[in-house]
Amino acid sequence: MRARYPYAKVHSSPSQGVRDRVDLVWENSRLGLYALQAREVVDFSTCPMMSPALEQWFIEFRQRDPGVLKGSVRLRVSPRGERGVWLDFSNQAVKMLFEEREYLQWLSARAFVEIGQRRKTLSWVDGKPRLVDPTLKPWFETYDENFRAIPLYGPVAGFSQAGFAANRVLVEAVAQMVAASGVRDWLELFSGNGNFALALSARGYEVEAFELEPLATQGLALSAVGRSLKVQCRDVYLKSLPSFAGRGLLVDPPRAGLREVLEQVRKSLPTALVYVSCFTEVFLQEATRLEALGFALKQLVGVDQFPYTPHMEWIALFEVEKPAILS
Ligand SMILES: C[S@@+](CC[C@H](N)C(=O)[O-])C[C@H]1O[C@@H](n2cnc3c(N)ncnc32)[C@H](O)[C@@H]1O
Repeated sequence: MRARYPYAKVHSSPSQGVRDRVDLVWENSRLGLYALQAREVVDFSTCPMMSPALEQWFIEFRQRDPGVLKGSVRLRVSPRGERGVWLDFSNQAVKMLFEEREYLQWLSARAFVEIGQRRKTLSWVDGKPRLVDPTLKPWFETYDENFRAIPLYGPVAGFSQAGFAANRVLVEAVAQMVAASGVRDWLELFSGNGNFALALSARGYEVEAFELEPLATQGLALSAVGRSLKVQCRDVYLKSLPSFAGRGLLVDPPRAGLREVLEQVRKSLPTALVYVSCFTEVFLQEATRLEALGFALKQLVGVDQFPYTPHMEWIALFEVEKPAILS
């Protein structure tokens, strides 16, 4: 009996200190995460999942309470140790902090500060706080084939993988599957600020990247200076895309999955498809649909970048194949 699926290779080390960014909630002077069973915030004082640099930043940030009723906070450290914070508070809370000033002065002395849904940068003019246009900085990084770092520009609030160490494993797994497919020309959907696009471009592949968020595409364009990489800001569910036929398709969708993109896959089958997913349920449903379109799962790798949770980052290589005859 021929095995229908390849074995999954799972990377699950290190299991602590894996996060270089964290998203938390401030509520009634508690800073942490919502409890699984109750709608209340579990207050943290330390966190073994954070890297030492992030935990140090978290402990310092924790020392002051901004005095807002409720809001979200993202903390980051960059590969060079720069600290960033994004405060996603209500307009009323931000107004209060601007009038009070002291908390924001304390925070600005310790970190680069972004505020609100429009990712504005906090700046100071004549001792007064101001919000100015977003600033893109190299908060994250990807890697070439020799594990040399390539900076990834974006706002503190922009998407990135959770930590540098697990991302190195993730990028390498994607690069190895792309190499195994033998395809040189790749179209990438949901590219963010270029974690995989730049890693592939640095390895000599042709890459055309599509991403919805304007700040992520601007960051990718900044990171890609000097490289021949095409970047387009587009909603890939709504807008038509170039034909996939004869090319490789790399996708790392949000939790919603590929959705309408599967219809285009049906109409113009890519030679190889690399699917990166952090949401197992949707990945399994869509893998089944890909099989029905004539794809076979050739390789599967798991990167446990969310230890002690049921979540896993999956990387899968599919190739078009005539339906297998099982014996
Ligand atoms: C899971 S992230 C992947 C980012 C990137 N692969 C990385 O490793 O940093 C998903 C990305 O899809 C983008 N996205 C979400 N909906 C989209 C859409 N309709 N069209 C294009 N991009 C979209 C998000 O902005 C986000 O950057």
